[in-house]
Amino acid sequence: MKFTAIAAAALIQLVNAASLVEVLTTAKESTLLSLVGTEPEILKALATFKGTVFAPTDAALAATVAAGFNATDLAALANVLSYHIAPGAGFSGANFTGAAFLTTSQGNEVKAFGSAEGVQIQSGFGTPLANVVSTLPFDGGFVHIVDQTLIPPANIVEVAKAAGLNSLLSALTSAGLAETVSKLSGVTILAPTDAAFAAVADVVKTLTPDQLKTVLLSHVVPGTVHSIDIVAAKSLPSVATSAAGSNLKVSYDGTDVLISGGANTTPAKVAIADVFADKVLVHVIDAVLIPDFKAIAAAPVSATAAKTATATATAVASATPKSGAMQIVGAASALVASFLLL
Ligand SMILES: *[C@@H]1O[C@H](CO)[C@@H](O)[C@H](O)[C@H]1NC(C)=O
Ligand SMILES: *[C@@H]1O[C@H](CO)[C@@H](O)[C@H](O)[C@H]1NC(C)=O
Repeated sequence: MKFTAIAAAALIQLVNAASLVEVLTTAKESTLLSLVGTEPEILKALATFKGTVFAPTDAALAATVAAGFNATDLAALANVLSYHIAPGAGFSGANFTGAAFLTTSQGNEVKAFGSAEGVQIQSGFGTPLANVVSTLPFDGGFVHIVDQTLIPPANIVEVAKAAGLNSLLSALTSAGLAETVSKLSGVTILAPTDAAFAAVADVVKTLTPDQLKTVLLSHVVPGTVHSIDIVAAKSLPSVATSAAGSNLKVSYDGTDVLISGGANTTPAKVAIADVFADKVLVHVIDAVLIPDFKAIAAAPVSATAAKTATATATAVASATPKSGAMQIVGAASALVASFLLL
């Protein structure tokens, strides 16, 4: 159990040293308190850190290791630790209702939900929601103690498999887009369920390979469009339809978010919003989006369009300033691992 306390300490050491003592004293985390200052370089590096830190409880970290996480793999550990640090304006969580997205040093987002019951944190698909069990403010922001380790999202293909989006995966393979999609970054994918594909199976059978590509690329939107932004949007430019000057149409009926391609008779409803895959945001929808092929014929698209969108999105992502927090995550990981070996 000792090393898990150390893991939390490594995370908490990412905060301002002066405040840290107060924070840990308040939390009565005596194991952590005894470790304050053991890594002066880490403390120095992040003396000016501003933002939000999520610190899993000892029990949460122990459960993660028990579930098979190889904590001696320093790269994997650094990846997980950096997913717990969100530089920027600190997220207090106080009296928070609704949803907020925080970009972590790992590069992916977490989603915070607030309700009367408190704040929960959603991480990679398949990871249980974490409850914020206590919040410790410090000079530069907030440490939230969470009862689950936050696990970074897996690749979109793995997420689609885990989410049972089998028809989508096989359609992507048929259209020769599986490889392209597995490398997408900085995009939003509207992912129809298997039932949605089954409902249009007769139509899909009649499509040429290029038409199938167009249908599938109608489901890819450049940029990260969160549920809360979709509700506000009236239209979304998909990779396939925007080239033809015809965007996806979006509406909100007070209950559901409805999305339509150019030729849907009944719009698709968003069934599961904000599913995190690695650098890809997924919204599961209950119908396949059918584009207006006549409009698109004037501006045909191909996988090249998707590649261009990806390149643009990746360029935007890599232009985002890197946080100084990342520099010390390696050191924090080594600290955690050294105690693992005791
Ligand atoms: C855990 O990670 C270490 C370091 O990368 C590696 O040497 C070891 O084989 C891994 N253990 C397992 C069970 O995969
Ligand atoms: C949260 O709500 C309580 C009760 O309404 C109030 O006293 C408190 O000031 C609020 N806290 C913040 C940070 O807004």
